Amino acid sequence: MPKYMSGNEIRTAFIEFFKSKGHTYVPSSSLVPHGDPTLLFTNAGMNQFKDTFLGLEKREYNRAVTVQKCTRAGGKHNDLDEVGFTARHHTMFEMMGNFSFGDYFKDDALAYAWEFITSPEWLGLPTDRIWVSIYTDDDQAFDIWTKKVGVSPDRVVRLGEKDNFWRMGDTGPCGPCSEIFFDHGPSIAGGPPGSPDQDGDRFIEIWNLVFMQYEQLGPDNLVPLPKPSIDTGMGLERLAAVLQGKHDNYDIDLMRALIVASAEATKTAPDGPHAVSHRVIADHLRSTSFLIADGVLPSNEGRGYVLRRIMRRAMRHAHMIGAREPLMHRLVPALIQQMGDAYPELNRARALIVETLKLEETRFKQTLERGLRLLEDEVGHLGEGQPLAGDVAFKLYDTYGFPLDLTQDVLRGQGRGVDEAGFKAAMDEQRRKARESWAGSGEVGTEKLWYEIKDELGATEFFGYDTEVAEGKVTAIVKGDARVEAADIGDQVMVVVNQTPFYGESGGQVGDAGVIFSAGGAEVAVSDTLKKLGAVWAHVGTVTKGTLKVGDVVELRVDSERRAAIRANHSATHLLHEALRHRLGDHVTQKGSLVAPERLRFDISQPTGLSAADIAAVEDEVNRRVLGNSEVITRLMSPDEARAQGAMALFGEKYGDEVRVVSMGGPHGELDRDYSIELCGGTHVRRTGDIGVFKIVSEGAVAAGVRRIEALTGTGAKAWLSERDHLLTEAAGVLKVKPDEVPTRVAALVEERRKMERELAELRRQVAMSGGAKAEGGNEAKDIAGIRFAARVVEGLPAKDLKPMADELKKQVGSGVVVLIASNEGKASIVIGVTDDLTGTLSAVDLVRVGAEALGGKGGGGRPDMAQAGGPDASLAPAAVEAIEKAIAAKKAS
Ligand code: SER
Repeated sequence: MPKYMSGNEIRTAFIEFFKSKGHTYVPSSSLVPHGDPTLLFTNAGMNQFKDTFLGLEKREYNRAVTVQKCTRAGGKHNDLDEVGFTARHHTMFEMMGNFSFGDYFKDDALAYAWEFITSPEWLGLPTDRIWVSIYTDDDQAFDIWTKKVGVSPDRVVRLGEKDNFWRMGDTGPCGPCSEIFFDHGPSIAGGPPGSPDQDGDRFIEIWNLVFMQYEQLGPDNLVPLPKPSIDTGMGLERLAAVLQGKHDNYDIDLMRALIVASAEATKTAPDGPHAVSHRVIADHLRSTSFLIADGVLPSNEGRGYVLRRIMRRAMRHAHMIGAREPLMHRLVPALIQQMGDAYPELNRARALIVETLKLEETRFKQTLERGLRLLEDEVGHLGEGQPLAGDVAFKLYDTYGFPLDLTQDVLRGQGRGVDEAGFKAAMDEQRRKARESWAGSGEVGTEKLWYEIKDELGATEFFGYDTEVAEGKVTAIVKGDARVEAADIGDQVMVVVNQTPFYGESGGQVGDAGVIFSAGGAEVAVSDTLKKLGAVWAHVGTVTKGTLKVGDVVELRVDSERRAAIRANHSATHLLHEALRHRLGDHVTQKGSLVAPERLRFDISQPTGLSAADIAAVEDEVNRRVLGNSEVITRLMSPDEARAQGAMALFGEKYGDEVRVVSMGGPHGELDRDYSIELCGGTHVRRTGDIGVFKIVSEGAVAAGVRRIEALTGTGAKAWLSERDHLLTEAAGVLKVKPDEVPTRVAALVEERRKMERELAELRRQVAMSGGAKAEGGNEAKDIAGIRFAARVVEGLPAKDLKPMADELKKQVGSGVVVLIASNEGKASIVIGVTDDLTGTLSAVDLVRVGAEALGGKGGGGRPDMAQAGGPDASLAPAAVEAIEKAIAAKKAS
């Protein structure tokens, strides 16, 4: 028996071994393929090196070692349905690989592999348990294995193209390969590779060594690669099974820990009747968590739907073993404990993973139970082995959210299938009905109209990637919700033309504006362009001249300046996306975007806010790429071609007949394929320098786990920066300092103000106290016809402070009249208080009028005990006091 090694030990050993052979360790790339947007999910270690093999991309190293996370679900390589029922199918697995990019070739590749698996220092597998297969006529490999490495010739098997010629897809790098098998021994059924019973479990392929020598350009078109290279792949789970003395990948430590966690959480036996469900849960926990960590969120299309299918399949199994509360999210800690060290992204995205799993499970729970009851009822009516009707499977899909593979999974245990053709027919029928049922009113009525136009006229041809001016022929005019033959001045219309350079709103990019001129002299000012039903371009605008008729030949001119601004913003969005991933991690993916002429908005999956340092770093990174001024490369291909490149592409309908792959951001004119590469239907700048300058102006939350960034480019960004600069200059002018001294000056002023406020408060207190003391002492308080009278004139006290002071003085005087006059920048405020015992004879309102008049003003108001007024000339305060004294004396005398 080989020595025991844990999954984590194996991973480390593999990396260390190849590092000791001069290989650079390159971390796993994201499950959402970065360098190859035509691929659904990363499915092999070599994906991230595809362009390096093809000689299109240079790296700093020519030997690399990786442990790559891979997903095989959805798309062409779909192992989802098998998971749980077999020993070696996974939706997520780890592939260890060593790579040579034009460096070593067969000799070293085979020698390294042999050393790693047999040397007692490393894995120490017994050599007599190792078998190898080679490509039919690869005598070179035969010689190396038998003569140099020393494998017994009777354990070297020659196999054909199907087994021993590896291809990434219908096109791309490829070459003959040699596979290494481990013999689990005669106690297990199965024959050696190539024998009739090779599919048994005795001889298990553990390592595939590919001699990358060719590029497949098309069927029967094989050209040599610039340099022969090496790509190897060894499944970590299989190897762990060998080293842990197991035949089943689900018995290895990494998987077993999750199975046990699932069993404990549901208080069921891990290996009892629920074994299949625990395996499904363990596997799906891995793939869903890793996908979420890489930015995929459940949705109804594309990658998000594959994720949802995996999640729901797991939830069904959780339900089956009796979990009444959401289960999956509770198992995340067990997964992180197993794999969090090797994959720190799991830790970083922990909250997002837990929340996403919990939410999806909570939502699906109700319909799951009801759907399962319906399914049970339906199955009750079926004969043995009779498949479930397609329309029932469709109802489960449509009403209960059961992906087809979930229904199939339920029925699998009963040896029953689903009528898939019937399911598809029901789906088509529903689409047809949806189209027909557009009733004849409002919005809905117009949709029906657009279906008619599309059916009758077909799709509009779009020229706008290459040109902003083009000729076309008007094929339909829509006014209100009806088609018309002609439109006159002032009419608001939507114009359909057979071909156009106007971009129709899609993929976040707004529609173009511009002008349509007809040969007959009509003009339409176009304010927006819509893409109806993904195919028909509707130019929205107003007729400003003449009469436009169906059949007219027209010239269409896009508002070029506006388009240029949109282009800059769109390209900046791609650079921003990439820069965010670099800064924050691969979990960042686009959750929505708006590309308008005046700004761009970009939503990303990201659980926490960006710090000022993050924003500055991202902004700098984008601006560096802008200054690099590299060419923006767009490649166009049919979905088939694109699929062929990546073998497992999945495209939403939105991509239509052509897939555009846009790359940009490499340094100084050289295409750096590792920078931004996206599938995109939008319009872009020619070189990144056309973006001008990039500025983030806001960042915030829009939904749980989603952040929104708003940014400007080109003249918009320049205007924003100028405005900021202007504000700073203005502030500096007011402060009479240089702009760069503004912050220090403002800080000093704020401090000064605080100090002054403190001093002022102290002063007021003193004024009030001292005035009162003197009034009480009688020295300052006069007697006017038996009435105590105190008057104060104060400098610089705000009017609002006078009343509280007057109240204070009144208290001090006890019985009498108090007068307070404040002078502020030459103007006077006056407050007069009369103690309550005297308001029967003297009114503060009357007295304040006298005072105001003496101060050059008039009026005033208040109550008999307290009144207030103002006057333009504070220098008259002594006269005012005198006038009030007289008024009191006169009143008393009367
Ligand atoms: N690319 C090969 C595979 O996936 C070897 O890594 O099997």
